[in-house]
This record gives sequence, C-alpha cells and structure tokens, in this order.
Amino acid sequence: MAEFLKVADVSEVPDPGKTLVEVDGEMVALFHVDGQWTAIDDVCTHDGGPLADGELRNHTIACPRHGAKFDIRTGAALTMPAVRPTRAHDVKVEGNAVFVRLRAEPGSAGPAAHALPSQATGTAGVAMPTSTASATPAPAPPQTASAAATTGQPLGEDAVRELLKEVKDPELFVNIVDLGLIYGVTLSAAADAAGKQHVAIDMTMTSPACPAGPQLIGDTKRVLGGHPEVSAVEVRIVMDPPWTPDRMTEAARDQLGIF
Ligand code: FES
Repeated sequence: MAEFLKVADVSEVPDPGKTLVEVDGEMVALFHVDGQWTAIDDVCTHDGGPLADGELRNHTIACPRHGAKFDIRTGAALTMPAVRPTRAHDVKVEGNAVFVRLRAEPGSAGPAAHALPSQATGTAGVAMPTSTASATPAPAPPQTASAAATTGQPLGEDAVRELLKEVKDPELFVNIVDLGLIYGVTLSAAADAAGKQHVAIDMTMTSPACPAGPQLIGDTKRVLGGHPEVSAVEVRIVMDPPWTPDRMTEAARDQLGIF
C-alpha cells in the first residue's frame, strides 16, 4: 500500500480552498472545506480536464472544460458529461502538515484510461476519420423499425434525424440526436445513382478526443447508408461551436436523470 506523503502545510490552503499537489508523481487536487480535507485525481473522467482549476462550491468541483461536477469527498461524477468517478485519495493532518496517500487505480475504468488535456486540444487531436470520409458502401444493416417506416418514402431532414436516433453513445446510451450532437443535415441528389440521395451530416462530439467518435461515425454511416434511397453518406466533424450540455433535449435529460 502507498504511504502518506506530506503535500502541504495547513496554513497554505484556506477553508474553503483548494490547491494542486504532486503525490508520488501524480497530480492531485487537494481540498479544504468545512474543516475537512479531501483529495481526488486532477483528472476529469470526461476528457482529462484539470479539476483543480475548476470552480469549488461546497463539496463540489466543476471541471473547467465542459462543466462536469464531481464530489470532492468521493470522486463521484455528479453531472454530465462525465459519467465515471475520478479517483479519491486518503488525507490526514498532523500538526500543521497535510498528508495524502494515493489509492490504487479502480481497475481499467480508472482515470488513467482517459485522454490527458494535452491530447485533447483542437481538432488536430481528433482521433477519428474526419470531414470527408465519403460514400459508405454500407453493409446492409438489419432493418429496424424506423428504417422500415421510411422505406419508399421521400427522404427529408426529419426522416434522417429520426433514423439517427438509432445511433447511441456507447457510454451514455442516449441517441446522438437527443444529445445535441447533430449540427446539420444536407441532402442532395446523387450524381452516381439516379433517384438516390447523398446525405451529409455535420456532427460534433462532447469533446475533441471523444473515444466514442469512431463508433458514432461508423454507426451513422451504417444506419443512413442502409436506407434504400441513400447512395452515399458523408460525416463531417464540427467542433465549433463546441458541444455543451444545454444542447441536450428534455428527453436526454430525463434519460440521464438531469433536472
Ligand atoms: S473534460 Fe471535464 S467535463 Fe469535459
């Protein structure tokens, strides 16, 4: 088991207050609230945001990047877009000295599995196929209820958005339309297949390095490419304006228990 290591003097952190400390080579956010000392990893589990830089309110810290909130006592993720806890550590005070002992990584779901901030800046860091991924020779997917409903019907933007509700974020289990990830749908007559259409989707991600990105792009192409009136699907990743939680529909909020 790791040892308690001195990280600060009591007098260095006001109550309420926070600071960033290094413990055995790892960056840890240290908190002093209501006379209680707590510590969690300085890593937001959404996309590696630096939690010690966030806004502290009572026992909650808000990630400065996309606003996910964490309990500073347990590391629990309290709000979207984070869904996994960050690691909490043991803290003790002796005299004027504050000590932290690192807890073990909670298995493979730990924060180390997430992108660090340096990997998550700008579209250059998007680890996924980009804007001009073109015609998907989509393998015919099993026909779903909504796809069947649109078979033989003129394909409009509403129908495309309805089809896209079949594509779900693999962590949140909420579809990409209700998550507010679809910024635009463009339909145009296909030059290579009479009577068919090209569909271009402007899609964003909840963060530039969203690990679910490739899957969401692939599922989007599969679902739309399987429609009989579609000859090609293009998915364009758009990071400006950035996604924010207020883009979610009421349905998504209900599903995620956000009120
Ligand atoms: S990195 Fe923290 S909310 Fe996105």
